[in-house]
Amino acid sequence: MNTVDIIIKKRNGVKLAPEEIKYMVEGYTAGNIPDYQMSAFLMAVYFSGMDREETVSLTEYMRVSGDVVDLSRIKGIKVDKHSTGGVGDKTTLVVGPLAAACGVPVAKMSGRGLGFTGGTIDKLESIPGFQTAVEECEFINQVNERGIAVIGQTGHIAPADKKIYALRDVTGTVENLSLITSSIMSKKLAAGSDAILLDVKCGSGAFMKTVEEAEKLGRLMVDIGNDSGKKTMAVISDMEQPLGRAVGNSLEVSEAIDVLQGRGPADITELSVQLAGMMIYLSGLAGNIAEGVEKAAAALQSGRGLEKFRSFVEGQGGDPEITRSRELLPQAAHSMEVKAERDGFITTLDAMKIGLASQHTGAGRQRKEDQVDLSAGIVLHQKLGDSVSRGDVLCVLYGNDQTKLRLAAEEALAAFEIGDNAPEKRKLIIKTIGDE
Ligand code: URA
Repeated sequence: MNTVDIIIKKRNGVKLAPEEIKYMVEGYTAGNIPDYQMSAFLMAVYFSGMDREETVSLTEYMRVSGDVVDLSRIKGIKVDKHSTGGVGDKTTLVVGPLAAACGVPVAKMSGRGLGFTGGTIDKLESIPGFQTAVEECEFINQVNERGIAVIGQTGHIAPADKKIYALRDVTGTVENLSLITSSIMSKKLAAGSDAILLDVKCGSGAFMKTVEEAEKLGRLMVDIGNDSGKKTMAVISDMEQPLGRAVGNSLEVSEAIDVLQGRGPADITELSVQLAGMMIYLSGLAGNIAEGVEKAAAALQSGRGLEKFRSFVEGQGGDPEITRSRELLPQAAHSMEVKAERDGFITTLDAMKIGLASQHTGAGRQRKEDQVDLSAGIVLHQKLGDSVSRGDVLCVLYGNDQTKLRLAAEEALAAFEIGDNAPEKRKLIIKTIGDE
């Protein structure tokens, strides 16, 4: 087999055999195929696409490129939850404790933020003392004792994805159905859970911009998960504007606590309860989704979700008192208000622009090795459809570098469009896939 022949074949739109896909994945992971050839291959896939069979092969060879985790020492049906990436998406911090409070064993591996999207591990690391690099046996013990643990993904799980994703990120080849599917599902299928819940984001702050694209991605991932013997469901949810009001690591932790205290923004509360309800159903602890959602809502209302969050934080070395004293979280030295320049209604609140502005306050990284400012980010005071007067605060930026804040403030202002008429109300949960 020859790398150039495989690249040319895909460039010309010809279907690849499983052995050819295996050759590319194994060769690149082992360092035998250089970045420039893999880049050309990925671009060929981007333009020519892969059919379902090719995508299944790609997912499988990426899955077995490293360790496949054994979580059998954890009692009960383990359900993993994964978001395809968004802005202000702190649902794991709420959904995990809610589902765990209802008896679902939550053993989750999460990633860091990159570009305009945030990552759960960075958010958790803003909690003083919280450890995200935990040995496997400690991880399993915590889930058995406290019902929930969330750790950073180790390099041993789907290392092919780690390498290929980093290359896609710098070669303009992220937004392809087969590449996204294989990237997400190879990791999820190797991570040892019994069932998988996918939150497929759709809109300006997501990789999938339209409902049709998001549905295609959701359907393909659900089919691959189910075919692999893991019950898999997906939710298509709106990411046209950021989720909730906080964007940035410690700001999002604080908002997640608000949600668990029953006083968080309506959108993130609704989505979190829905996702937790679906996890409860997938775990076999509810007869249908509606019953699962009822249980999740009861855990929120009774404060059991908040108690579970405190136990989870304490178990991983963090300070649970952050739920009572928010000043224990990292605080930014500076803040800057962005104000409305006219009267009207917010007709656009571009999630990607807010994500980039937040990244530029210091909250995100441009390269994998960059340090993040855990206190930095943006709090939105207005959301889509809100009515504003000239001079009203649209959002407040936080950070430790005033030059960065000034530039980010200009970007944040550009994310808002103000018009004369209120826009149509958007649906947050657009569709669920896999409950047919
Ligand atoms: N998240 C992933 O893990 N991989 C992708 O390709 C896109 C989002």
